[in-house]
Amino acid sequence: MSPFLLTRTLPEDAAGAALRADVLEGLTGSPRTLPPKWFYDAHGSELFERITALPEYYPTRAEREILVARSGEIAAAAGARTLVELGSGSSEKTRYLIDALTDLRTYVPVDVSESALTRAGQALVAERPGLDVHALVADFTARLTLPRTPGPRLVAFLGGTIGNLLPAERAAFLSSVRGLLAPGDALLLGTDLVKDERVLVRAYDDAAGVTAAFNKNVLTVLNRELGADFDPASFDHVALWDARHEWIEMRLRSRPAQTVKVPALDLAVDFAAGEELRTEVSAKFRKEGVRAELAAAGLELARWWTDDAGRFALSLSVVR
Ligand code: SAH
Ligand code: AVI
Repeated sequence: MSPFLLTRTLPEDAAGAALRADVLEGLTGSPRTLPPKWFYDAHGSELFERITALPEYYPTRAEREILVARSGEIAAAAGARTLVELGSGSSEKTRYLIDALTDLRTYVPVDVSESALTRAGQALVAERPGLDVHALVADFTARLTLPRTPGPRLVAFLGGTIGNLLPAERAAFLSSVRGLLAPGDALLLGTDLVKDERVLVRAYDDAAGVTAAFNKNVLTVLNRELGADFDPASFDHVALWDARHEWIEMRLRSRPAQTVKVPALDLAVDFAAGEELRTEVSAKFRKEGVRAELAAAGLELARWWTDDAGRFALSLSVVR
């Protein structure tokens, strides 16, 4: 195997067809929504990396703190020869795991962002001679076919990205991950935890406006890919805490009444003044909720680690 291999798992226009289907459903529904996976073109991936360094955005630092402290224990419990990472992005925090997994042969980062995969994969093979990197451009909510690599496998899903799925999507996702695991394999799951509402809202509405730019980037993606004529400047970034669902919601609020055309879908969308479009949920968790969601998918929460301030958790489930 060559040290860096990138596989596009989807046929030529599958991503385009999925985008068209999602946008048609989301913009014609009520309330209007868009799935968050479309944030991550090359620019969106860069904006996300800038978010992770913001003073208000604590999840990346909190999860890194846990990985620095616990990667040895995680590695000892998982003993993996293959590390699969879903929604791997820059793979920056993953390096702690890679270094701790002494028997690791192959790293399989999976992401919809080809630019993020290529950057991270090329850097990793240069830094870690002997490690095979087999990147997959794929949607982790679809049926994944993983390359045949030596077990045991550790599947890592970091960053709290599971919170960007709705509850029913999470249940389907966890069941399909369970289906990828054989006895001796493990799942390492990062979850952001419920905390003070002001801390949460600030993390999604930073003073420098980077999260606002990230949020509006989805409109630029629709303009480029579908010929839409969204004017991002006419939408305001909104971040709010939904206490009932225990999630942050990001929305885009149309300031004027306006009609947006989406020629690729032969669609005209009327926005009333002040009408909002939901672009992301970011669910926050409690230990018992994580345990219950894992159990519903046939996974047992075996280990639970938090950062010192109790903001973020990593949980490990090992398949018997
Ligand atoms: N794990 C990294 C990146 C988190 S950002 C970290 O903790 O910092 C979320 C990542 O998931 C992005 O790289 C994005 O491109 C990817 N992503 C989002 N939805 C996805 C999907 N449905 N399938 C595959 N990748 C997805
Ligand atoms: C990738 N995901 C976990 C981020 C989050 O915190 O929900 C995406 C994000 N959205 C706004 N800021 C960061």
